Amino acid sequence: MKIKNICCLGAGYVGGPTMSVIALKCPEIKVTVVDLNEARIAAWNDDNLDNLPVYEPRLAEVVGEARGRNLFFSTDVDAAIDAADMIFIAVNTPTKTYGEGKGMAADLKFVELCARQIARIAKNDKIIVEKSTLPVRTAETLQTILDSTGNGVHFEVLSNPEFLAEGTAIEDLFNADRVLIGGKQTPKGKVAIQALVDVYAHWLTPKQILTTNVWSSELSKLTANAFLAQRISSINALSALCEATEANVDEVANAIGTDSRIGPKFLKASVGFGGSCFQKDILNLVYLCRFFNLPEVANYWEQVIILNDYQKYRFAKKIISSLFNTVSDKKITFLGWAFKKDTNDTRESAAIYVADHLIEDGAQIHVYDPKVSEAKIKADMSYLWELNGLTEHKITAKLKQLFVYKTPMEALDQAHAVAVLTEWDEFKTYDWKSIYQNMYKPAFVFDGRNILDADKLTTIGFQVKGIGKG
Ligand code: NAD
Ligand code: UGA
Repeated sequence: MKIKNICCLGAGYVGGPTMSVIALKCPEIKVTVVDLNEARIAAWNDDNLDNLPVYEPRLAEVVGEARGRNLFFSTDVDAAIDAADMIFIAVNTPTKTYGEGKGMAADLKFVELCARQIARIAKNDKIIVEKSTLPVRTAETLQTILDSTGNGVHFEVLSNPEFLAEGTAIEDLFNADRVLIGGKQTPKGKVAIQALVDVYAHWLTPKQILTTNVWSSELSKLTANAFLAQRISSINALSALCEATEANVDEVANAIGTDSRIGPKFLKASVGFGGSCFQKDILNLVYLCRFFNLPEVANYWEQVIILNDYQKYRFAKKIISSLFNTVSDKKITFLGWAFKKDTNDTRESAAIYVADHLIEDGAQIHVYDPKVSEAKIKADMSYLWELNGLTEHKITAKLKQLFVYKTPMEALDQAHAVAVLTEWDEFKTYDWKSIYQNMYKPAFVFDGRNILDADKLTTIGFQVKGIGKG
């Protein structure tokens, strides 16, 4: 079976880049990405490619080549579903903020709505691809909903989780370590699997395309994220011990990472991992383990999150104790707000939680991030405070302790301390001598990413505190 028309529900950080690359690499397939969010679709269609809603290196180039040729962004969801042979579901699956499983389980209401809409609209057989990250056995629920209309349309559900990381999305899609396709081992299931394999085979080798049963595929996605996050929490746990013992966490990471069984990647100690997925997916895994009555397994994975919260809190506490146990009315400059470099995404960024602790202690937080707007930063804090039950009055008062700048030098002027929250390359190139001259003394640098040259900064006169360095 040859796929001619693909539709993707959800034009976010996954739907946008993945479909752009599929369209680029498969010029004979028409790809339509749809979303309920009109502003987001308008931004994907903006003539100025600098205004795309997702910032990713090389994304504008890919969209520029394929858009209008065989790549389309639209809000007409029904028409796109009707025309497609293959429908990807790439909508958000956040942690539930209400009801049963609140704070742990994935909220599948958006996915379910997609399935109901597909069932209502479809007039001919379709392959449905789970691209969103979903709890294991969701395909069963989807199949039940899809088949519920009894209109004779055959839906074949595949699992095809996405492994791209933000900031390197295009590179990851072009040269994927693997793509994973899970499907039923029935004749129709095998045809559907092969149809999706053929899409990816436009640019990936057979060795890069793994096929499994549906449940293994669904569970592998949660497992991959849990293993990745676990490495960060492991090295971050040791960073605390390094600080107590004068060991250097970068040296320890390098020493253990050269063991080929351990490997060097994902051992960078930090202020804590952020992003929309690690925490949400591990919480979901923990919830599933408890659901299947496996408390020891649940507690094991939960510790990855507990440690990550501890790391963010530890960083904020270190700032307060170093600044003579009070940050009240002191200007603390945050360099970076995004959860990692080369993205404008701030979801679950460590910066949000560190800012919360410091603002609670009376600090004035002054932020500069090259890709994140003032409105986004203020919305992130307001959202957290709303979740924590703060009144509107209290939120307005707290927002008065938060300032956002378009240039770094304004943000840094007359600061008591600088905290590096995101590892943007440009921070390394600043004129730190003149920054020092314009700061209160003693001038502190808290490098939450270990990216600055601590020796050089110390020579200038800064008090430098990195992560995991005595
Ligand atoms: P996102 O919030 O950026 O995008 C999701 C989009 O879906 C939103 O624009 C929303 O308006 C839209 N949407 C919701 N319901 C819809 C509906 N019924 N019809 C059409 N559009 C609808 O989320 P994301 O970061 O792209 O993540 C999507 C999924 O991919 C999640 O399950 C996530 O866990 C997974 N994932 C994300 C990443 C990542 O790096 N962000 C990587 C791998 C997997
Ligand atoms: C992560 C995974 O890497 C992707 O494979 C997966 O597809 C994606 O989650 C997802 O499911 O959403 P992402 O969150 O975009 O990708 O970015 P990462 O590079 O994994 O970084 C996550 C967080 O960990 C960032 O805050 C980063 O700064 C931090 N990190 C990463 C460290 O603190 N140390 C490291 O060594 C690596």
